[in-house]
Amino acid sequence: MNSNLNCSVKSLVALLLLCGGLGSALAQSPAGSAEKGKTAFVQNGCWQCHGFVGQGGSAGAKLAPDPKPIEYIQAFVRNSVGPMPKYTEKILSNQDLIDIHAYLKSIPKGPDYKSIPLLN
Ligand code: HEC
Repeated sequence: MNSNLNCSVKSLVALLLLCGGLGSALAQSPAGSAEKGKTAFVQNGCWQCHGFVGQGGSAGAKLAPDPKPIEYIQAFVRNSVGPMPKYTEKILSNQDLIDIHAYLKSIPKGPDYKSIPLLN
């Protein structure tokens, strides 16, 4: 009796964990792979306008360091009506975008200009 109860509690916990996992997978939790993101950033031509490290330039906005939240990036990339081409899910999967976000987050900040003698 007692072990039965224990068993059902265990399966309930397992079920909850499983549902939690599925739920966050569906909500596209922002955990991504920076390495895959770098590849996707290059393969999808983001670098052509935004620079290899997302530094931005005359053709595209600065994306990194300190990228905007994944929700913002998703909304922008899927719906752009401005000079940037819009990327639908057929062209660029949600997972690719999450990985690109991870890549952008992994780009380190440059040194503070105050620490560079030539600039002071
Ligand atoms: C043809 C050039 C071009 C390409 C290719 C391109 N972008 Fe852009 N992107 C732009 C420009 C220009 C803007 C600014 C557009 C605007 O403000 O409407 C922009 C803006 C953005 C923004 C919003 C920045 C902000 O701070 O508001 C994000 C995020 C972004 N791009 C991500 C990407 C990603 C990810 C890719 C690759 C999948 C990509 N872009 C490919 C030109 C490009």
